[in-house]
Amino acid sequence: MNGDTGRRDIKNHLLFEIATEVANRVGGIYSVLKSKAPVTTAEYGDRYTLIGPLNKNSAAVEVEELEPPPGPLRETISSMQERGIEIMYGRWLIEGAPRVLLINTGTGYRWLDEWKSDLWSIAGIPSPAGDHELNEAIVFGYLVAWFLGEFISRETGRAVIAHFHEWLAGVALPLTKKRQMDLTTIFTTHATLLGRYLCAGSVDFYNNLQFFDVDAEAGKRGIYHRYCVERAAAHSADVFTTVSHITAFESEHLLKRKPDGVLPNGLNVKKFSAVHEFQNLHAVQKEKIHEFVRGHFYGYLDFNLDDTLYFFTAGRYEYRNKGVDMFIESLARLNHRLKVAGSKTTVVAFIIMPAQTTSLSVDSLKGQAVTKALADTVSNIEGGIGRRLFERSVHWKEGDPMPDDKELITPADRVLLRRRLFAMKRHHLPPIVTHNMVNDAEDPVLNQLRRVQLFNHPSDRVKVVFHPEFLNSANPVLSLDYDDFVRGTHLSVFPSYYEPWGYTPAESVVMGVPSITTNLSGFGCYMEELIENPSDYGIYIVDRRMKGVDDSVNQLTDCMFQYTQKSRRQRINQRNRTERLSDLLDWKRMGMEYIKARQLALRRAYPASFDDVDDFDDMIGGTEIKISRPLSVPGSPRDRTGMMTPGDFASLQEGREGLSTEDYIAWRLP
Ligand code: UDP
Ligand code: G6P
Ligand code: GLC
Repeated sequence: MNGDTGRRDIKNHLLFEIATEVANRVGGIYSVLKSKAPVTTAEYGDRYTLIGPLNKNSAAVEVEELEPPPGPLRETISSMQERGIEIMYGRWLIEGAPRVLLINTGTGYRWLDEWKSDLWSIAGIPSPAGDHELNEAIVFGYLVAWFLGEFISRETGRAVIAHFHEWLAGVALPLTKKRQMDLTTIFTTHATLLGRYLCAGSVDFYNNLQFFDVDAEAGKRGIYHRYCVERAAAHSADVFTTVSHITAFESEHLLKRKPDGVLPNGLNVKKFSAVHEFQNLHAVQKEKIHEFVRGHFYGYLDFNLDDTLYFFTAGRYEYRNKGVDMFIESLARLNHRLKVAGSKTTVVAFIIMPAQTTSLSVDSLKGQAVTKALADTVSNIEGGIGRRLFERSVHWKEGDPMPDDKELITPADRVLLRRRLFAMKRHHLPPIVTHNMVNDAEDPVLNQLRRVQLFNHPSDRVKVVFHPEFLNSANPVLSLDYDDFVRGTHLSVFPSYYEPWGYTPAESVVMGVPSITTNLSGFGCYMEELIENPSDYGIYIVDRRMKGVDDSVNQLTDCMFQYTQKSRRQRINQRNRTERLSDLLDWKRMGMEYIKARQLALRRAYPASFDDVDDFDDMIGGTEIKISRPLSVPGSPRDRTGMMTPGDFASLQEGREGLSTEDYIAWRLP
């Protein structure tokens, strides 16, 4: 399709990565781009640029604006700016400092109608009025295609790879194809629209994947036009990939194109020079969670914090897909089992999922305020006692009695302390949610907590805190950044039903916090394939594929219950083993698949340039990344398949028509 003139320099090709989460946190795609930046910039240097829509609020904190370098990039940007398009070029302020180009879609809306009818005529994609998300995708897609088209007409020396993530950034793909642009494209989908929608309803998704009437299902859910964009993107790309085998299988059936391969997600793993530093951090961050808990449960703090375990789940609020329904049901069963067992252990379970709220609740704020006031008062009294004790001692003579502790605390101190204690009286149970919800009566999390009666009653061994907002250290109630919070906890629980990859359990593992996931998440399947006994390493995989719902809930309950039975020493050992897996998840190893996908894209678009090159690697300049072998020291995970890189799962090679059914190793067909 791309005029394979052979003139473009393949070796020093340029790379653009296009996504809506560039310098703009929404979910996992942001994590992909951000954590991958160090390895991609190490490989490409200034030949790498990310393109996304301009979100002024987040760009203001994440991006430092720069003058674009002279040459085709600057010329293209200026030319678009002259036509009224606002573009911000700069440095994304993250490790690796990649260059980003953020386009204000608002400045392209005047062409919306024209572009909609063009999309219909070239790709048969309808776009009804009033779908804001689709409009955004269309305007962004046309602006990206405009940029790429102009750019390659100015940059005629080097080959260009445009790598798109997810349908929201995918409208440009059919355009590049239709306009026969001289570049090569990759489309990576991180989920399918239809998969997400079908799973969120009550459909037996995995047993019926092959049989869905996709157009009808999309139509019924009012997402037919979006689905068309996604499908067109998958079919127009030179190379089509996804993030796990489970999603590859789903894409094949729902998008009707077999992916060429799987690009699993890595992390930017930071190793501390002292091996036990992460254990120390656990203790430090746990103390901060204790502080929150003291405030939240004031008046009912009848449990010992030294015997308290912190469990949590977190992510975008997709109640069923993220398995929150299963988590809450299992917590109720865990509560019962701990009570029956007469356990001294208390579990405080956090649910961190952004929902619509009006503000923090007065009760939550008050809890933190009264404990803070108490702490301040106690510290004043303490100071006074110290000074008086010193004075008495300094004036002490032989024969005098010892300073009497009763005289050390003054009547005024007592009054103050009593006032603080009275302020701690409370006539209702500690709240189960920290914020005022816009839709309290219909909120699925709150309603299920009510149904299973987890109300933070003193007799409950499982307490719950629903925090309907992402974490942030500037928050006055739970003042911790997400990573710090994770470190302070004991167990993360992600019982997802629909999870193409699932960064949250992977991040937890890298921080040394054991995690529960499922065999319906890309990450869970990947771990199951890679490690002989994931549970030895603190990765517990709940079976949601072969078991009925009730059995899966029981399995999850067992798993959490067993965790509560561990001694402190056992937990410390467990964390050490969990943390040891982190090398397996580093981009230095996982990033190999991205490299292969790009090579395949170049080869497909410019086959003539590869005629006399046997070794792919020789074609690609600047790739100095060595793929570390899986750990081999005793007690480390055994590499089950003996493979070097995750991609040996997949088939990112020319000469094969995408993945074949046998390639879905981690996803055995029903
Ligand atoms: N996350 C966050 N703050 C929170 C909770 C979650 O930044 O309070 C991040 C988390 O670190 C992870 C991302 O949200 O990187 C969720 O990604 P995942 O792949 O698990 O799910 P997605 O949202 O993409 O479906
Ligand atoms: C880390 C610290 C230890 C602390 C322990 C608590 O390992 O280095 O000093 O005792 O955490 O573990 P726990 O699982 O009880 O929070
Ligand atoms: C998607 C998926 C999630 C995945 C992320 C990054 O949003 O829901 O499972 O981890 O993309 O690939």
